[in-house]
Amino acid sequence: MEHLAVLVLLCLPVCSAYPLNGAARKEGSTTDFVQQYLERYYNLAKDTKAFVRRRDGGPVVDKLREMQKFLGLEVTGKLDSDTLDMMHKPRCGVPDVGDFATFPGMPKWRKTHLTYRVMNYTLDLPRDAVDSAIEKALSLWEEVTPLTFSRTDEGEADIKILFAVRDHGDFIPFDGPGKVLGHAYPPGPGIYGDAHFDDDEQWTRDTSGTNLFLVAAHELGHSLGLFHSADPRALMYPVYNAHTDPARLRLSQDDVAGIQSLYGSPSVSPDDPAVPPEPVPPGPETPAACDPNLSFDAISTLRGEILFFKDRHFWRKSLRTLEPGFYLISSFWPSLPSGLDAAYEDTSKDIVFVFKGNQFWAVKGTEAQAGYPKSIHTLGFPSTVRKIDAAVFDKEKKKTYFFVGDKYWRFDENSQSMEQGFPRLIVDDFPGVELKVDAVFQEFGFFYFFRGSLQFEFDPDARMVTRTLKNNNWFYC
Ligand SMILES: *[C@@H]1O[C@H](CO)[C@@H](O)[C@H](O)[C@H]1NC(C)=O
Ligand SMILES: *[C@@H]1O[C@H](CO)[C@@H](O)[C@H](O)[C@H]1NC(C)=O
Ligand SMILES: [Zn+2]
Ligand SMILES: [Zn+2]
Repeated sequence: MEHLAVLVLLCLPVCSAYPLNGAARKEGSTTDFVQQYLERYYNLAKDTKAFVRRRDGGPVVDKLREMQKFLGLEVTGKLDSDTLDMMHKPRCGVPDVGDFATFPGMPKWRKTHLTYRVMNYTLDLPRDAVDSAIEKALSLWEEVTPLTFSRTDEGEADIKILFAVRDHGDFIPFDGPGKVLGHAYPPGPGIYGDAHFDDDEQWTRDTSGTNLFLVAAHELGHSLGLFHSADPRALMYPVYNAHTDPARLRLSQDDVAGIQSLYGSPSVSPDDPAVPPEPVPPGPETPAACDPNLSFDAISTLRGEILFFKDRHFWRKSLRTLEPGFYLISSFWPSLPSGLDAAYEDTSKDIVFVFKGNQFWAVKGTEAQAGYPKSIHTLGFPSTVRKIDAAVFDKEKKKTYFFVGDKYWRFDENSQSMEQGFPRLIVDDFPGVELKVDAVFQEFGFFYFFRGSLQFEFDPDARMVTRTLKNNNWFYC
């Protein structure tokens, strides 16, 4: 802990004033800078003990190699000068791996006509220059898809565009001049689809500063559902190329293939039900995330996100974003029923199992697995068990806990068998949780049990409830 605090202190003044030309790099601060870069863009675990020079490599070296491979550098696993130079280049703030969305079928807009609104303007350029850069950027994508865009000056818009410095309300502050130029969110309601530009850059029409059209074309690619490409010729390559002539910018083959895989070409729009998802506009008939009486049917993690199931819908919460997405179960998994009883993710197999009545299904990302539904009795439950209330996979122990009434069973995922000595009473092993539970999942080393409108944070090591919370405190109500 102390070590961490020292790192942070060292880093604040050094990183923010880091010389772009690298003239006065100090050893310690470089390590911190590299660590932050890898955390930010390559999903390096935050508490990884730095060291680049461990003989057997270690996580930092693995991530360095991943970064070198992605950005097309020589893969050395070492912090050579090319690598360090690349890390200092201006770039997009969206991570290269481990992104906002981790579903294999990327989120996309379900309509072809989208609205956009420029919420505010940089003072670097006249307004009409900003408007025209955005319009030109969108038209690049418009040309190769069935998508059309129209600008609005008031009210809601699918894509909201703004200029801001440092903290600007989304927990991903900008970083002053240089390095991060902008970021954008993948399609969806609210902040999703929006594009933000760092107003500490000097935005220009030409390339004397940072060219707004080039950066906007890239960021709006994210707004439409594209992620970073490892192809350096692609517009969706994460690093800004100051040598691109804005007048001659074309989408690369890679960009076109990417966007057309989501929306098809201009004449044909694919209506592929396997391509997710259509965010559901909240309405009177749908459950409201902030209803104080909200309860859940089932909860599971999925590739680092959390899915809260309720009737025909689910909320999808990424820990990196504020607002959860809200979807129809059938828009991701047409073969799954609504009104689930229980769900859990076996992270070692990358499979989510969902339960309803005496049956269960398996999905991998958005793909339903063949051979399901199966009977829950194939897992070893006695015939007296007709349904499961809640289930959770313990990542450390590789065991799954099934909760039924006031009892629970434990299933060994390695041997695929129900363990001896079960069921046991919930009250004996999960004191404080006790009676019947609606849903449970594991996160940050805790089990979160849900019952009615309450949730219980249970520490499995201390064997006690550490906090009792409102059900929907995951939703920033
Ligand atoms: C634009 O709006 C954002 C979000 O409300 C705010 O943080 C930012 O300061 C505004 N920028 C300008 C240039 O007014
Ligand atoms: C929540 O439930 C209680 C008790 O059933 C009820 O009195 C209250 O009106 C409900 N609140 C809302 C917002 O539905
Ligand atoms: Zn980007
Ligand atoms: Zn932002």
